[in-house]
Amino acid sequence: MRTVISYIEHSKADDEIYRQAGEILKNKGLVAFPTETVYGLGADALDSEASAKIYAAKGRPSDNPLIVHIADVNDLYRLSCDVNEQALKLAEAFWPGPLTIILKKSDIVPPSITGGLDTVAIRMPSHPTARELIRRSGVFIAAPSANISGKPSPTRAKHVIHDMDGRIDMIIADDTVDIGLESTIADVSGDVPTILRPGFITLEQIRGVLGNAMMDAGIMESVPDGVTPKAPGMKYKHYAPNAKITIIRGEQAAVADEIIRRAKQSSERGSRVAVMASSETAGLYAGLGAAVFDMGSRLDEAEEARNLFAVLRALDEQEIEEVYSESFPTSGVGQAVMNRLTKAAGHMVVEV
Ligand code: TXA
Ligand code: MG
Repeated sequence: MRTVISYIEHSKADDEIYRQAGEILKNKGLVAFPTETVYGLGADALDSEASAKIYAAKGRPSDNPLIVHIADVNDLYRLSCDVNEQALKLAEAFWPGPLTIILKKSDIVPPSITGGLDTVAIRMPSHPTARELIRRSGVFIAAPSANISGKPSPTRAKHVIHDMDGRIDMIIADDTVDIGLESTIADVSGDVPTILRPGFITLEQIRGVLGNAMMDAGIMESVPDGVTPKAPGMKYKHYAPNAKITIIRGEQAAVADEIIRRAKQSSERGSRVAVMASSETAGLYAGLGAAVFDMGSRLDEAEEARNLFAVLRALDEQEIEEVYSESFPTSGVGQAVMNRLTKAAGHMVVEV
């Protein structure tokens, strides 16, 4: 398939791009587009034939449901048969923005996009291109992250082009994805509001609005035996580069010593080695024969979030085999950064 790639700047797509993308969506095609979190791979959410193409293009298991993107809060009432007070409070506080809300689905939502569940995931993005595309196309857009299943979500135009060129109809390419991690998912369809996936909007912020909320089991550590995460997507191996990542956690000087020791050993064995560090510590790892990736300042979790997936992809581009990573602060969005990094490492965390 030939993929039309439309480059835009500063989120400003012209009428012709929106017209073409809208036509494709209305005709059951696939369009990748930027959002404030990561790139989305969009199709008409209410058309099962269209959404089936998403699963095929990504190689995604069909039991893993999709998020429906809307541009108007009132559309909650079309997609859910039970819009409760909690959902309205969250929408009021965080929409448009990086929060996905799970509610009981209405009859118009086909089971093919909910993995057969009786709930639906809904998000109103704040990115101007995403909003305009939803509004002008006139369809609700089902959109997972625009990566091949199992790979890190795309945060730069080149990532989407790498994964999706030749597989979909159109890519709107624009380097304005600024959060860099997928949305927080809050399930308010049950008794206690539950975070199914951490993101830029934190548990504390959600508690601030709703009074109470909890994290789903196994979000930060590996999923305990016998526990199934509520978001089907959280059980899959994710974000995994080809390299084997080991996270070293502990007091900063001890972490650096252990990383230096292991990186030296691995590179002497002939492995292609990398270290994931912060701007403050990157200099410590020079001269080890390891590639050093700077995730940004330890004082700026948002910067680490923005860089994480690009670094994970760069590991593959440079054919790295073994990675030793520092552990990063877990305040604010740092918790979501460590959630994704720990998954990428297959939960291989060493305490020093
Ligand atoms: O930031 C984002 O959320 C991005 C952008 C494109 O909006 N989208 C995204 O979609 O990350 P995706 O498909 O990569 O992740 C959706 C997650 C999966 O873990 C899926 O299992 C979960 O949401 N999910 C979707 N519907 C659900 C439902 N009804 N109940 C529980 N989990 C659900
Ligand atoms: Mg994804």
